[in-house]
Parts: sequence; C-alpha cells; structure tokens
Amino acid sequence: MKKLLGHITSGSLTEGLIMRINSDATLEAIKTGKFVSIVGKEYTFFSLITDLELAVSNPDILLFPPTESEKILSEVIRKKDIYATAILKPMLMLNKQHEKMPVKTIPSHFCSVYEAQKQDVARIFGDEHDTSKRYFNIGTPLDMKTPVCIDLERLTERSNGIFGKTGTGKTFLTRLVLAGLIKQEKGVNVIFDMHSEYGLQARKEGPQQHFVKGLKTLFPDKVVIFSLDPQSTRRRGGNPDVEIVIPYQGIHVEDILSLQSELNLHSTALEAAYLLAAQYKQDWLQVLLSQGETIKEFAQDIGAHPESIAALYRKLKRIERLPFFKPSAPGAYKDYSVIDQMMEYINKGISIIIEFGNYTSLFCYLLVANIISRRIHSLYIEQTEKFLGSQQKEDEPQKLMITIEEAHKFLNPQAARQTIFGNIAREMRKYYVSLLVVDQRPSGIDQEIISQIGTKIVAQLNDEKDIAAVLTGVNGAQNLRTILSSLDSKKQALVLGHAVAMPVVVQTREYDETFYRAMMHTLTKEQIETAIDELFT
Ligand SMILES: Nc1ncnc2c1ncn2[C@@H]1O[C@H](COP(=O)(O)OP(=O)(O)OP(=O)(O)O)[C@@H](O)[C@H]1O
Ligand SMILES: [Mg+2]
Repeated sequence: MKKLLGHITSGSLTEGLIMRINSDATLEAIKTGKFVSIVGKEYTFFSLITDLELAVSNPDILLFPPTESEKILSEVIRKKDIYATAILKPMLMLNKQHEKMPVKTIPSHFCSVYEAQKQDVARIFGDEHDTSKRYFNIGTPLDMKTPVCIDLERLTERSNGIFGKTGTGKTFLTRLVLAGLIKQEKGVNVIFDMHSEYGLQARKEGPQQHFVKGLKTLFPDKVVIFSLDPQSTRRRGGNPDVEIVIPYQGIHVEDILSLQSELNLHSTALEAAYLLAAQYKQDWLQVLLSQGETIKEFAQDIGAHPESIAALYRKLKRIERLPFFKPSAPGAYKDYSVIDQMMEYINKGISIIIEFGNYTSLFCYLLVANIISRRIHSLYIEQTEKFLGSQQKEDEPQKLMITIEEAHKFLNPQAARQTIFGNIAREMRKYYVSLLVVDQRPSGIDQEIISQIGTKIVAQLNDEKDIAAVLTGVNGAQNLRTILSSLDSKKQALVLGHAVAMPVVVQTREYDETFYRAMMHTLTKEQIETAIDELFT
C-alpha cells in the first residue's frame, strides 16, 4: 500500500516544492532526507525532504493556543487551521515507461506525495542481483528496508570521496565499497592502510568490544597484504604475503615535496635536494644521509647553502629510523622489485593492502604512499600507452583505485599542485588509475580536486567550511546542506554524484555476519533460480 504523505501546494524548481503534510500523517515520522515520490500526470518526481515547518492559517490562533484539556477545540483547529509543510527537492523524474530523466519541470498544484516504494528504489538505483554485476548495495533509504545500490562501473570511472567527521563510519563505508569492487570484480585496489583496519580484522566500537572481518579474511584469493611492519601483522594473527623493503634510491625529490608542510621544509631546503639529485642522481638521499660532521664541507663541495643542506639532513634523518628503508651498495641498485611484485598482482586482478603496522606517523604514511603511487602510476602510463598502440584487449590495463586516508594531507592546495595524487585526481583516470579519498576535513582539499570527484559519500559534518567544500559544484547545494547537517552521527550518509542516479540519504549497510555471507557466495539470482529449477525437474 502506498502511503500518502500530503499534497503539493506551491514552490519552484530551484527552491524546492512545498508540500502540505496531511493532518492524519504522523508528523514526527517525516524526517529530512526522507525519500518520497510526487505523482504528476506524465512523470513521477523523486525527491528528498530538505526542510520542515509549522504553519497556521490565521496568526490569531497563535495568540490563544488551546490548552491540553480543550480537546475538541484542538481537534477542530487541527483539521483546518494548523498544519505542517515540508520542502521537497525533486532530484529525478521517471516517465510512464520508467525512463529516468533530469528534472526540468514541476508537478502541478495538489499532486499527491507518497513515501517512495520498494520498486521505485530498485528502478532508480539498480539491483545487486543484476547479471551485469555492476550494482552494489550500500544501505537503505531512511525508514525503508529496500537496498540502495551504487553503480560500480560508474564509480571506477572517476576519483571518489568518502567524507565525515571522526567516528561517523568512514572506514566502515570504505571497507564496504572496496568489498563491493572486489566481489563484483569491477576494479583492483591499492589501499594505504594507516591503522591496519582493512586487511585481517578491525575493531568495532560499541557496548561490547568486538572485531569485524577485514578484506583479506573475506576474500583470501583476491587480496594480498604487503606489510611495512611484518611483526605487527603476525601479532594480529596473519602472515603478510610480502614484506616491503624500499631502497633509499627509490625515494625521489618529488616524494619529499609531499612532506613539505609536515616537515616544515623551507623551499631553500628543497632546492638543495634538487641540487643533490642533479649531482648524485638516484643516490642523492643515501649520500646525504651518510654525511655527519662533514655536512658543512659537503654543502660547499656541491655549491649549496650550508644551512639549507643541514636542515634537509636533519629533517630527513628520520628516514633512517624506519627499518623498511634500506641503503644499498653503490651500483648494486636495481629499480625496486616490491613495485614489480605489486604490478604482477594488480595485473592478475588481485587487490593490495599496504599495512603500516606500528609506523602510523603521518610522515611515514605520506612518504610511502607517494613513493609507491608514483611508481605504480608511471608503470600504468607505460601499460596504457602500450594498449593504445596495440589496441589489443589483453593489453588493456585493469582499472585501479588507490585508497588514501587523511586525504587533505596529500591534496591540500600546495601538495595537490606538486605531487602524484594531484595528477591522478586531475587526469580523470586517463591512465586507468583513480583515487578513493577518505577524509574528515574536506575543506583542506584543493577546490579544483574536490570538483573533479565523481561520487561522494558524505557522513555527518558539522563544520560549515567542510560542508561547503563537499558541496562545491553540486546542483541544489543549498537544499542538500540542511540534509547534511541533520544526519545521524553514525551509519548515515548522503550519497551523491556519478555512481547514483540521484542524491539519496542512506542508512549504511550493516557490516556484520549477514554481510560476510552475502560476500562469500558468488551466485547470481538467475544461477540460484536455475539451480532450484534443476533440483525439481
Ligand atoms: N556499516 C557499519 N556497520 C557496523 N558498524 C558500523 C558501521 N558504520 C559505523 N559503524 C560503527 O561506528 C564505529 C566508527 O566507525 P569508523 O571507525 O568507520 O569511523 P571513522 O569515521 O572511520 O572514524 P575515524 O575518523 O576515527 O577514523 C565503528 O567502530 C562501528 O561500531
Ligand atoms: Mg577511520
């Protein structure tokens, strides 16, 4: 049964339509973010409730409000004189043939507004059991039980973002989206896992402490763990597939650029680094770090400013304390093999989780993510160019998505201009590589980069600047703003952009036993039906 909520009385396409809420509808069950349909003559308009208001027909009534004991009076004025209105923002319309189209018109006066129905949701967002395997359920509309899916094919066509303040469920949402990509085989992932939450298991806060399964545990054949801290991985009951070792020669000056604000590096120190690299090529860092007392003379020898060289030396000395960075004998260095190993897995469609274990400093995270992504990206350019030359299907690179947390540290206006992550976000996966950025401070990300982001999944944000940042370049931002600020503090998100037909608020899919079971069986609905048919014939 369709549930009638009210009727359209006025409004506009840009500001939203005003619905008078039926007097018998329970007002408190109608929330912002609710997904409703307005049934017009030719089209059904799917909309979100963006605001609610109380109204009266005659202001005098407010001067003498009925008391609790005046039941009959209350009843009478409730029927005609006092009412509530809701603002609805139409986001998508369907014609009689159920074709989706952008909203270019409005329904007429007094059209009825209903709660959206199960079949509407599936028509608009697709069905996870579809044989194309392109849809993946990430949650349900508010107060509904029907799954909302994102289109994974479209998701991998752009860079994407998951935002929300701390503790809102970003990591859980990210793990969910990655599980979708892995299960439906729509993209390979490289995940820079700063807090070791994606691979084996992760802690779940709550009344009782317990753990949820990581991606390696759910998909043992489709995920490998590369560890910077193998002991930590082992302590958590797993064995890393590969232990990461990076020779000093694998660190380029470009990688240091990303550390500029983290290390408070002056531009003269960076110039000194370029001077060193010009002279010693790939050995520049090893030569620098092997200085000690001799640093002053060394600066003079290469014609650099002694203070700048000394500052660079002091700040980069920290690298020596990270045991996975290793010096190598001069001349013995080959381009580092750990990246080649990664590429072999990626080409087989196997996703990679890079665990940082106890090395959770931002310094380490930024440096390692830069080195690895820069190298993978350049190999992807080679592969893409080879494919463009041969145009053979088997040469086509796999779509790759790189997941980074604390994304504003990589993509702030300064870093975005100079480092690999800015390039990847800007070039719009020309080379089959895109980003999945996870961040609690989207206002710290370069505006241009944010506007390139295809799909955004946004959990609660309070800071005005952050809200404005995620809504940069979004149509009808003003209406979405109220929705964003009224989300629950956990497990709710606004999903908008390229991978969904219209913006929608979801109650996030629960990451639990039921979810694990759904991930582990790989049969489609059709396959199950045929199997059942066969059983009975
Ligand atoms: N889809 C979900 N299923 C089950 N529990 C969830 C889900 N989303 C969030 N939670 C709960 O919310 C808690 C916080 O989620 P999460 O760790 O993903 O937040 P976060 O936004 O990544 O926080 P931080 O910014 O601190 O990293 C989880 O420990 C879990 O208890
Ligand atoms: Mg997190």
